[in-house]
Amino acid sequence: MNMAQRKKIALVGAGNIGGELAALAARQELGDIWLFDIPDKVGVAQGKALDLEQNGAVLGYDAKIRGTSNWDDLAGADVVIVTAGVPRKPGMSRDDLLSVNLKIIRSVAESLRTRCPDAFVIVVSNPLDAMVYAMKEGTGFPAERVVGMAGILDAARLQMFLAEAAGVAVKDVRAMVLGGHGDTMVPVPSYCTINGIPVRQLIAADKIAAIIERTRNGGAEVVKLMGTSAYYAPASSAIQMARAFLHDEKRLVPCAAFLRGEYGYKDLYIGVPAILGGAGVEKVVEIALEDEEKRMLDNSAKAVRELIEASKRL
Ligand code: NAI
Ligand code: 2OP
Repeated sequence: MNMAQRKKIALVGAGNIGGELAALAARQELGDIWLFDIPDKVGVAQGKALDLEQNGAVLGYDAKIRGTSNWDDLAGADVVIVTAGVPRKPGMSRDDLLSVNLKIIRSVAESLRTRCPDAFVIVVSNPLDAMVYAMKEGTGFPAERVVGMAGILDAARLQMFLAEAAGVAVKDVRAMVLGGHGDTMVPVPSYCTINGIPVRQLIAADKIAAIIERTRNGGAEVVKLMGTSAYYAPASSAIQMARAFLHDEKRLVPCAAFLRGEYGYKDLYIGVPAILGGAGVEKVVEIALEDEEKRMLDNSAKAVRELIEASKRL
């Protein structure tokens, strides 16, 4: 007889995003949680885990949460979310993190390869598109099971700014951001709507242009304020993706997916709309883009490709 088993969620990196990921996964009762960090930080991982398991008594959720620096504890995980690495400091671009985080992601991939061969791996570490590419290379997992989180976050920022400009509830605004998670990201106004109404009917063109610029700098705006990068919305975005996989939800969201010719790009991870379900990235969805939008996406793909080429030399 098959026994029902709780899902196992491994969070690699128990820093700001890792802690918030654990908090959200526990509240949503997605499964039992392992918070992993390097030996120097294992106390932080274990302390957050204990605090969060005790929080279940107050909030009424049921999840086993443990901290560890032993890779073997992650064996057989259903989902792995990777935030290992260093975040940006004010004035740094995401690309400045390349060499430091690449080493970390390669070693994480090596450790996951044998222990979590069936996992859905969501990469969050920056520079995102290059890190998720390195994760796929390092684990050798099928592209369907290695994905990067950025588009949901970038779209969330765009949604918030559009809601503010239109004076409507943020939950009524849908937005799409494609491309790399960097300065070349491509907010796509032709697919932004307020409860189905194209935003261009409700917000003036110059305001939309300013909002697009603010979205591109959305990460830096937070870094500048608090000296490190955002973690609440990034964590919620990654959990939405984990949940789509665990519950086979078929969510259509922007995420960094591996392309095999879609949009004219090959052997590249970049932000595109994709359907996430029980098989992982089940489909990359190709949508028509206006000329200017496609030009910006080409430009972004070029920047991501340069970053991937640079990482191959490291
Ligand atoms: P953080 O510094 O609070 O946490 C990162 C953790 O990774 C630290 O606890 C560190 O000890 C750990 N770590 C370092 N090397 C490790 C290894 N080899 N194995 C396991 N853990 C290791 O940073 P935060 O704020 O949680 O951000 C994490 C990453 O996510 C950064 O690279 C940041 O730039 C990126 N980020 C990406 C976003 C996106 O949209 N994709 C949004 C926000 C942040
Ligand atoms: C963010 O977008 C820095 O990638 C990070 O908040």
